[in-house]
Amino acid sequence: MDFGHRIVTAQGLAALEVDGLVLVVAGESIDATLGAPLAELLADAVSHGDLALKKGKTLYLHRPAGVAAKRVVVSVAGDSSAKSFKSAAAHGFVALKASGAKSVAVGWAGTGALGDGHAEAAVLALADATYLYRHSKPSAPAAWAPKSLTLLCQKGDARAVQAGLVRGAAIAEGVTLAREFGNRPGNECTPTWLGQQAKKIGKAFDLEVEVLDKKAVEKLGMGSFLAVAQGSAEPLRFIVARYQGAAKGKPPVVLVGKGITFDTGGISIKPAGEMDEMKFDMGGAASVLGTLHAIATLKAKLNLVCIIPTCENMPSGTAVKPGDVVTSMSGQTVEILNTDAEGRLILCDALTYAERFKPAVVVDVATLTSACVIALGHHHSGLFSADDGVAQKLLAAGQAAFDPCWRMPLDDEYGEALKSHFADMANVGPRPGGAITAAMFLRRFTAKYPWAHLDVAGTAWKSGAAKGATGRPVGLLTHFVLGQAG
Ligand code: BES
Ligand code: MN
Ligand code: ZN
Repeated sequence: MDFGHRIVTAQGLAALEVDGLVLVVAGESIDATLGAPLAELLADAVSHGDLALKKGKTLYLHRPAGVAAKRVVVSVAGDSSAKSFKSAAAHGFVALKASGAKSVAVGWAGTGALGDGHAEAAVLALADATYLYRHSKPSAPAAWAPKSLTLLCQKGDARAVQAGLVRGAAIAEGVTLAREFGNRPGNECTPTWLGQQAKKIGKAFDLEVEVLDKKAVEKLGMGSFLAVAQGSAEPLRFIVARYQGAAKGKPPVVLVGKGITFDTGGISIKPAGEMDEMKFDMGGAASVLGTLHAIATLKAKLNLVCIIPTCENMPSGTAVKPGDVVTSMSGQTVEILNTDAEGRLILCDALTYAERFKPAVVVDVATLTSACVIALGHHHSGLFSADDGVAQKLLAAGQAAFDPCWRMPLDDEYGEALKSHFADMANVGPRPGGAITAAMFLRRFTAKYPWAHLDVAGTAWKSGAAKGATGRPVGLLTHFVLGQAG
């Protein structure tokens, strides 16, 4: 799709020739700068009760008189923030979807100011309105595929808007990639397949991508990761992808993504209901690859290393058992009391492996605990970090990307839960505070660098009628990584 901007005056808005025009009302009144005939149309609609000036309301107009656009959707944002602009644009695009409009434009109803965040918001909203999973569903209708999106803005905002469009387009592609990977069924999206996809991205951007197999992982001494993988007939992979956008010696940002391509729970098997959703348990890995794609597209001036431990968690005659003790790559031993707490077991070895890059910062991303879903629901991802600076940057990145996270505690007291009689630590504690206990477990492997953990169990996918991967937290991560440049 082409993304561009166009500088418009009040009269220009009515003269704009597009298939679909979304006009966002900033406040809860019509902007006085909106010129005739649109201003007259809207005033008429409001006075007849066809348009309520309340956040979330829309009005669809087909070939309105005196307006060049074939369709106009008026969408009320409630305020002028980029976040509200995003949801208003999203409502507008959904209303246009059925028309199959090829050229789409969006801007304020009037001549309000737009920033880079608004432009990014519009691109993300359109990407969301046009994404459709079709890969294994031949009966699905064709997805809406507009050819162009134009942001309507004022002269002084053009530069910022263009920057936002470029960033938004890169993030949208990364999000779409992560969604597609997440949505693929577990019998297709295997560790081997993920390794192939990483190689493909590497080829497209000339990146260094290594895909290690079981033998290499054994050699590295990743006893914890191996224990999770040993129950499955599907071979494990350990993916390391490196993007170099700065001098070789510059310490990289390292992203680690949980890549469980299916989580049955193992011997501590999960109940059958909704177990299908455990194909999304590689959402962390998918978001890390999506972020890599976005950063490489933007040619960011920094170094980035992406590490993905990936395997299935299955029960079988060879599966790891409750009570088994394994030796992690760090040398610390772990008593596996619950084989369903497998994410931390594959991540801990990846976190130890990360040490070799002398990272500036390490962020791991994982659909780690159902406790995090109980704590935060589906809006904020869980953020855990002992480093206030890193935590602040991730919180700010989440806000800027409309992909928010919420900081959770990591006090030493929570670590007591992991005491084991038979190893340096157990892999689970009691249920209360389960998301924190999981983070405390990971923390024991991160002494050598600044570190943060994102638990995306509640945000990486949706259940129910809109079941599917969300591509989160690609936006948050991309903003965070971009912030580490220069
Ligand atoms: N992948 C799951 C976490 C999960 C479960 C996310 C359901 C979203 C919905 C993870 O591997 C897991 O099973 N965690 C256990 C940990 C427990 C055994 C300490 C959980 O959260 O129940
Ligand atoms: Mn599990
Ligand atoms: Zn899991």
